[in-house]
Amino acid sequence: MLLQLLSLSVVFISGISAEYKNYDGIYARLSWRKLEAEAGSYFIDKDSVENVKTNLASNNITYQMRDVNPQIFKVRRRRDINGAITINDVNNRYLSYDEQMQFLNSIAQQYPNDVKLQKIGNSYEGRSLTAVRIGDDGSSKPIVWIDAGVHAREWISYNVALYLVYTIVSQPAYQDLLNAVQLVVVPNTNPDGYEYSRTNDRMWRKTRSRFSNGRCSGADANRNYPFFWGTQGVSHSQCSEIYCGSRPQSEPEVMALTNAIQREETRIKGYIALHSYGQEILYPWGHTMRTYPSDVQDLIQVGKAMAAAIRAVNNTDYNVVNSGDGLYPAAGASDDWAKSRGIKYSYTIELSPIDDYTGFSLPEDRINQVCREAFQAIQVLMIEVRSKF
Ligand code: ARG
Ligand code: ZN
Repeated sequence: MLLQLLSLSVVFISGISAEYKNYDGIYARLSWRKLEAEAGSYFIDKDSVENVKTNLASNNITYQMRDVNPQIFKVRRRRDINGAITINDVNNRYLSYDEQMQFLNSIAQQYPNDVKLQKIGNSYEGRSLTAVRIGDDGSSKPIVWIDAGVHAREWISYNVALYLVYTIVSQPAYQDLLNAVQLVVVPNTNPDGYEYSRTNDRMWRKTRSRFSNGRCSGADANRNYPFFWGTQGVSHSQCSEIYCGSRPQSEPEVMALTNAIQREETRIKGYIALHSYGQEILYPWGHTMRTYPSDVQDLIQVGKAMAAAIRAVNNTDYNVVNSGDGLYPAAGASDDWAKSRGIKYSYTIELSPIDDYTGFSLPEDRINQVCREAFQAIQVLMIEVRSKF
């Protein structure tokens, strides 16, 4: 049965041959007998291009096809394995999960008054999920909650979160803001998926959980939140990129995040999920189209203020759009769930780049600018929260 088909984009990789193992599963999903045509990108190998074209045409499926830079599969190895991880690393390269944790530990040691690391749970494969609490002085001031990297291949999001932690605690200018607004940052919400994307399949998106009788691993954690779960823009088949899991919060990562947020939800006034790519600031609701919260004007207004702050850095354009209308409806995402819990300013930010060719593979020499831009947007949200609560 054909699900609602929004935009199917088929991507092929020149220079990677058919036996490239990571692509078997992905190609299999385009098998024509049980075509589950879902919106999204599919990766196929170069040798399959003609075959895929023929089959798409005979199924009357509209699609775009493009070549992808094979560079995206190359992960730069770290030169100095023993040195401490510093902000230089965060600004210039993508880090492993262990390196991210080392960085956070060293920040926590350097700024013991401002930074507390809190373990909020474990990933499916047993990696620690860490929340960085900044400016937590035991008071009940409002909180802005930022999480990153629920989609494994969206590497820039991790660096943005780490840069945020470092910058806000290391620069005295932000102390005033931190006195009024607390920040909680979860820099890596999907460590298993991220490590898998670094070492096995650069385009991995999901978690790495195994389901009973499963042929495929992982669920899309951003379809696994308990709000209109399993309705639109999701798939119930395990091999799909947008598999919503076996039930709401089936993913331990989602369970940990929802528990942690709910523990202090009355204080959380701002929420941003950092994703890439597209240069968009998305506001709810996103589980369906043309449905908005009653305070949508407030969300748009603050969204535009965030976009303006980004533009002021280097003229980069971020569009402020409703996630269901502007992107595509997708139920069970964290932003909608956060909004449903009463967190007023809830967004998903799709970071740079904007172009499909670069896509998830933002070159490392652009990391710093994206971090500086996103930092300004997050600062704006904190300032808005300070003035309104
Ligand atoms: N790219 C994100 C995703 O597909 C966007 C989510 C936006 N939010 C939403 N509720 N649809 O997961
Ligand atoms: Zn994403």
